[in-house]
Amino acid sequence: MKILVTGGTGFIGSHTVVELIEAGHEPIIVDNLSNSSDKVLDDIQTITGKKPVFYKADIRDKAALEKIFKENAVDAVIHFAGLKAVGESVQIPLEYYHNNITGTLILCDVMRKAGCKTIVFSSSATVYGMNNAVPFKEDMPTSCTNPYGWTKLMLEQILTDLCVSDPEWSVVLLRYFNPIGAHESGLIGENPSGIPNNLFPYIARVAAGILPCLSVFGNDYDTPDGTGVRDYIHVVDLAQGHLKALDYAVANKGAEAINLGTSRGTSVLELVTAFEKASGVKVNYKIAPRRPGDIASCYADTEKAEKLLGWSAKYGIEDMCRHGWAYMNKKNI
Ligand code: NAD
Ligand code: UFG
Repeated sequence: MKILVTGGTGFIGSHTVVELIEAGHEPIIVDNLSNSSDKVLDDIQTITGKKPVFYKADIRDKAALEKIFKENAVDAVIHFAGLKAVGESVQIPLEYYHNNITGTLILCDVMRKAGCKTIVFSSSATVYGMNNAVPFKEDMPTSCTNPYGWTKLMLEQILTDLCVSDPEWSVVLLRYFNPIGAHESGLIGENPSGIPNNLFPYIARVAAGILPCLSVFGNDYDTPDGTGVRDYIHVVDLAQGHLKALDYAVANKGAEAINLGTSRGTSVLELVTAFEKASGVKVNYKIAPRRPGDIASCYADTEKAEKLLGWSAKYGIEDMCRHGWAYMNKKNI
């Protein structure tokens, strides 16, 4: 199938493009490169032997999207393009709402006019909010505490409304837990600019000697070792989940929210230990105050993904650390 991948040069998008090519699909990437580089296209070619079609454009640019749909008979869309930093979204909410919401509205409008009504959307476990008990299940109540999270929740609602209005639409809302790691080739991975907000790239930079010390945000949570517990998922597992979601969307109309996680929780200190083991390098850390807005534990109930998609994650924490570290070394980060 011809699949338009918005945000396809980004972290999760690039890994999904590799999986699409390897499964025989034809990905077409649209990305404005606001948080990625077109150099990743060469890396995708090295891994797969094929360079995907690439359009440098903003999804809010309606004419540019119309041109893409005119030039390519797109069968379905996997929609990653969006801004994703929780803290930044509190500082510049209008940019987040405009980029994520306006962008998706324009994308869906162009899709509708082109007669392409199948979309897999990047949602987030953040929609489970602060008040649910783990493991998080798709039918639990949703809520948010920051503009980034609200864009995800609002877009879930908008895409669901679209399905109610027109039974030809197929929408899969994928609620990701914490994607980390890198492709096992070490050629593509995550390389945030500046000081990382997320735990995994922070640990990797301490191990590499780029940053001096990890601050562990709180050791007095109600968790086995007191530090925050999350459901880390290998980005390649996540990418493969998108191909299964695509098959599901092509075969089924309507909207469905589905968790993509491993169902296993790992604490901050457990991830530090696993990274030390995989890299052979000591990771300095100190205990710091809790980070506002963090919850103690977040991990997925993955039964729905297993049942509807026939998908479950294969990689463990050690693989995630080993592949993430190999990427750092290969790319001289
Ligand atoms: P990323 O920043 O690496 O990729 C997003 C890509 O979208 C980037 O290449 C960026 O340049 C592009 N982009 C942003 N706005 C655009 C626009 N208006 N037009 C065209 N391109 C645009 O992020 P990622 O980690 O790969 O995340 C992909 C999606 O998954 C995002 O929607 C994100 O919110 C969601 N998500 C990510 C995580 C995570 O922890 N990484 C967790 C849950 C959900
Ligand atoms: N942490 C530290 N030190 C750091 C960074 C993080 O101790 O320097 C801790 C946090 O307190 C938390 C855990 O590591 O307990 C994971 O934190 P991350 O920032 O890596 O990830 P979050 O679970 O907070 O958030 C991520 C994405 C969100 C997304 C959410 C759910 O950043 O966008 O997962 O998918 F919404």
